Amino acid sequence: MKQEEYFKKLTAHAKEYGFVFQSSEIYDGLSAVYDYGQNGVELKNNIRNYWWKAMVQLQENIVGIDAAIFMHPTIWKASGHVDAFNDPLIDNKDSKKRYRADVLVEDYLAKIEDKINKEVERARKRFGESFDEQQFVTTNARVLEYTAQSKEIRNRLYAGMDANDMVSIKELIEDLGIVCPVSGTRNWTDVRQFNLMFSTKMGSVSEGASELYLRPETAQGIFVNYLNVQKTARMKIPFGIAQTGKAFRNEIVARQFIFRMREFEQMEMQFFVRPGEELKWFAYWKEERMKWHLSMGIPPEKFRFHDHEKLSHYANAATDIEFEFPFGFKELEGIHSRTDFDLEAHQKFSGKKLHYFDAELNQSYIPYVVETSIGLDRMFLAVLSYAYREEKLADGSERVVLMIPPMLAPVKAAILPLVAKDGLPEKAREIMDTLKYDFNCQYEEKDSIGRRYRRQDAIGTPYCITVDHQSLEDNTVTIRDRDSMNQERITIDKLTMAIAQKIRPQRI
Ligand code: GAP
Repeated sequence: MKQEEYFKKLTAHAKEYGFVFQSSEIYDGLSAVYDYGQNGVELKNNIRNYWWKAMVQLQENIVGIDAAIFMHPTIWKASGHVDAFNDPLIDNKDSKKRYRADVLVEDYLAKIEDKINKEVERARKRFGESFDEQQFVTTNARVLEYTAQSKEIRNRLYAGMDANDMVSIKELIEDLGIVCPVSGTRNWTDVRQFNLMFSTKMGSVSEGASELYLRPETAQGIFVNYLNVQKTARMKIPFGIAQTGKAFRNEIVARQFIFRMREFEQMEMQFFVRPGEELKWFAYWKEERMKWHLSMGIPPEKFRFHDHEKLSHYANAATDIEFEFPFGFKELEGIHSRTDFDLEAHQKFSGKKLHYFDAELNQSYIPYVVETSIGLDRMFLAVLSYAYREEKLADGSERVVLMIPPMLAPVKAAILPLVAKDGLPEKAREIMDTLKYDFNCQYEEKDSIGRRYRRQDAIGTPYCITVDHQSLEDNTVTIRDRDSMNQERITIDKLTMAIAQKIRPQRI
């Protein structure tokens, strides 16, 4: 199945089975805003809880907070968001479509990258076993030409963005002959900067009201609370503060379903370290975060690091963990060594001293910070796009199954009486009433057992427990595994332990 078709089916499935709905659908929707349905909210909670477990509860030197979405407006001045949290936008006058100018250039660069990959694959086929990719990409004339072209474009893009020179970005788009994907024309407006923060007013009378921003990242709530937490929890460096919560960005181009939203949720952790030790901790968190992703059982080839060549002015190292979404490898999580930029700026703008006294060194300093930041909705999409399968079975029938890692599945077990009579529903209800205290379970008695299995497969329930006539005689049930569809007979008193073992994560 083509990836585009796969993605379409996945989004339709997410709606049909109560995972994700378009926000305000009966009013024709609100662009790039989504609601989570009855199964979606369970999956989202499970991902968030697993992140919290790994990043807070399993860490002796990390604690969590929950800062408010509204914050003092000067915070966003200090953090640089008021002046620099911009995207360059450009409109096509014929299609009236709006684009991010840098993304148009990035898409052009991706096409050059594709051409290089095609040359490499062709050569790999031609030379077989003896193929040396490194040698090929450093000597082949065509590849060298593409690489040089790509480097020159990138340099022009970065120079224009760094200098805030929107005229040069427009020139670049014109020189490359980039056309609007909708109208096919080069009839572009000028490029202009657009701030991504949403603003609102606080106060009852409009004259006296002050302008506030909806936070575009949760991180600043951690920075401005760092001393409160350090002192009240008596944390010693190195230590971390974590939080999860909503963030808002007025994205110019919001597409690819829940990949890029205007209201989304982040899971962030700031790790405070001694100046000079930040790169050691950056390397540490890079590995730890990859281990977290792999602990859920999604294969390693779906993830890769993308180390940043071009660093933001406040970072001295940065990498993304990319995931292979149906539309290619894209950023899932960012890990940044942010130096002392944020705390230094808050000290300057607030006029409050934000130094930490390091008793071991007998020194006072502003800590350096390593940040891990992952989008909860993006992780949700990663899990869902890995999980969605259409399978042809041995008997010729088909099934759609979500192979969600069992520990994250919305429903862990379905309790199904084989028939809705002969005392089987009563026995099944007894089991339900025991298991529901430990796991999110569903009881279902309508339709044939086969149809009920299919419905549970479609929402990713890892285990179906069937109560049959034998259960009444010997207190055993069958437990069916979603992925292999194998059934095993076990005694009812062993069910809790059996399910708990199956859904426990591997050690991180
Ligand atoms: N505090 C650092 C920060 O916010 P970021 O790279 O802008 O860094 C971190 O965002 C993560 O948040 C991204 O890796 C992505 O998973 C998620 N994210 C960012 N913008 C998003 C959006 N518009 N919709 C959904 N997720 C988003």
